[in-house]
Amino acid sequence: MGRLFDFMLPDNKSPLTADSTDGLFHFINEVSLIFLVGITIALIYFAIKYKRKSEDDKTPVITHNNTLEITWSVIPLLIVMVVFGWGYSGWLNLKAVPNDAYEIQATGYKWNWNFNYENGAQTLNELHVPKGRPIKVVMQSRDVLHSFFIPDYRVKHDVVPGRYTYVWFQAEETGESVIFCTEYCGTSHSDMLAKVIVHEPNEFEQWLELNGGGIQGTPVEQGEQLVSLQGCQTCHSIDGSPKIGPTFKGIWEREQQLTDGSTVVVDENYIRESILYPGNKVVAGYQNVMSPYEGRLSDDEITNIIEYLKTIN
Ligand code: CUA
Repeated sequence: MGRLFDFMLPDNKSPLTADSTDGLFHFINEVSLIFLVGITIALIYFAIKYKRKSEDDKTPVITHNNTLEITWSVIPLLIVMVVFGWGYSGWLNLKAVPNDAYEIQATGYKWNWNFNYENGAQTLNELHVPKGRPIKVVMQSRDVLHSFFIPDYRVKHDVVPGRYTYVWFQAEETGESVIFCTEYCGTSHSDMLAKVIVHEPNEFEQWLELNGGGIQGTPVEQGEQLVSLQGCQTCHSIDGSPKIGPTFKGIWEREQQLTDGSTVVVDENYIRESILYPGNKVVAGYQNVMSPYEGRLSDDEITNIIEYLKTIN
């Protein structure tokens, strides 16, 4: 059923998590509107009624009015207590994940969301979920503070380095919803977008099976999948177009001028060092903004990425 302030909210696609938030949102807005109208009418009425009518029209001295003072203290107190109780129960609901929730791991890092599923499937900036089933997203950050926000489900939580946090929801319709990062996390914070893709349960199972097993193929193919899953292309183009970082096009054996004036030729060791410790040798004209991958990629994975980069001409 439509309510007065519905236009301020996106569609509610996860009633189990959104209803409480929406109800409180409407309550606060409607109470505020009632007070706004009431106070405005009283203001105008009194301004007219007590308008000064002659030179010696004096206001009598009024010290206090107990009834009035108690009324205007107790009514707001009750309203505030209702808001508190409502908000608290909504918060408890968002913290209490249903027992049968399906768990997905999420990692936020500058400036992507990476999702990992039970069978080894991985996605970048796409969260695939089945409809009609509670989903728990367990989140961590690889670098700085991010925040995971799905407006359609009314769930939002900080994603903190060195700590796990979570949100849960249950999507009741198939389709897509936007995921925002809502904590300023650097240059491309506003591009740190992802989407939830809600499937029918049987389609989700098919999708999962198709994408399970993780990264496979020849070293070059594995390297390509790693580059795509790690979100490298957010900052490095493969077609030469300008982005936050140097392009991968023609990177192999390219002579590169560094910020300190020296030059390097891009070889295995330079790529390896630039992945693990990006701040060591920054290419001239670029900022040192990349998160170090030290401890995040194995030697084999780095080798595969190098093999792939060699092929981008
Ligand atoms: Cu991540 Cu803002």
